[in-house]
Amino acid sequence: MTIGRGLTARLGAMIRERFGAPRIGVISDSTVASLYRETLSASLAEAGLDVRFFDFPAGESRKTFETVGAALDFLARERFTRSDFVLAFGGGVPGDLAGFAAAIYLRGVRFLQVPTTLLAAVDSSVGGKTGVDLPQGKNLAGAFWQPSAVYCDPDFFRTLPDERVAEGYAEMIKHGLIADEAYLRRLETLGPGDGIEEIIARSVEIKASFVAADTRDTGLRQTLNFGHTFGHAIEKVSAYSVSHGSAVAIGMMMACRAADRLGLSESSMTARLEALLRLYRLPTGTAYGAEELAGAALSDKKRSGETIQFVFPIRAGAAALVPVPAADIPRVFRLGLS
Ligand SMILES: NC(=O)c1ccc[n+]([C@@H]2O[C@H](COP(=O)([O-])OP(=O)(O)OC[C@H]3O[C@@H](n4cnc5c(N)ncnc54)[C@H](O)[C@@H]3O)[C@@H](O)[C@H]2O)c1
Repeated sequence: MTIGRGLTARLGAMIRERFGAPRIGVISDSTVASLYRETLSASLAEAGLDVRFFDFPAGESRKTFETVGAALDFLARERFTRSDFVLAFGGGVPGDLAGFAAAIYLRGVRFLQVPTTLLAAVDSSVGGKTGVDLPQGKNLAGAFWQPSAVYCDPDFFRTLPDERVAEGYAEMIKHGLIADEAYLRRLETLGPGDGIEEIIARSVEIKASFVAADTRDTGLRQTLNFGHTFGHAIEKVSAYSVSHGSAVAIGMMMACRAADRLGLSESSMTARLEALLRLYRLPTGTAYGAEELAGAALSDKKRSGETIQFVFPIRAGAAALVPVPAADIPRVFRLGLS
């Protein structure tokens, strides 16, 4: 990943230098296109690149096969070939969708990621998971398809609502907790908006190290789900009115508390996490009850056989994957709530 404030102005030149002069099909959503299409277009045109744009209405509800179909239709209509590139421009929704279109168009063309949300920069643009939602649930169809390059310009985040920025921080705090105490201390020293290039770079390194160790997400990479099993249950029970980042923040608190009470933590992370979440303006608790949350978790797709894989913190910078039998799930949720 190349990170730099204002790098969008040089993006066309950087692509040209590294990849020659491919044609570029930019896939974006309506909000990002209306805010930044001109800026991106100017940079690519200045480098002499032939660029075509496709965008779809913003929002998770459009991360569907229907939209992928429209994106494929656009690529075919514009006669994109195997030597051309797709450029995913936006947050995680255009990123996942454009990556998936690139994975299947002509059985796979190269693609670039230009994330415009902090969450996309530190999470969805790294790791090669692409895909769409099905009526039965989120991210149920997709492919592993790695971008050829990711270009991150933190200037895009200036137009993000505060809650969206906080969602990115939730994932960064997670990276510190599961993998790197020094990084966690750095996040404690900084605050919202500080040292953004440095901390994105470290978060991406941490995520990439888990991905490299387990590309297909069958083992160690699942440590990145820290806070997510509890978090998914909160999202589901709230009918998705609690955002993903907020749910992950609360989920991490629940995982810390449960780990303490189950005797799994060598040193408790609960108080430290709570202070960090407050610093980055993230929630720390929920009013939902253990029974309804556990019920939602038991119907989640991450259920495998008769156990659910939980990630519990052991100490700062270290976490463990622990399979919990279905019968014990309600108790683990009770222990996670204060
Ligand atoms: N592939 C992965 O590994 C992975 C990991 C985490 C999340 N995800 C996926 O990412 C998605 C969530 O990501 P997201 O929060 O970035 O969603 P998103 O792409 O929907 O962006 C959130 C909102 O912010 C708007 N937006 C984007 N950039 C903006 C900017 N610079 N200024 C103002 N508004 C802007 C968007 O138009 C949208 O309305 C989910 O679909 C999730 O499943 C994927």
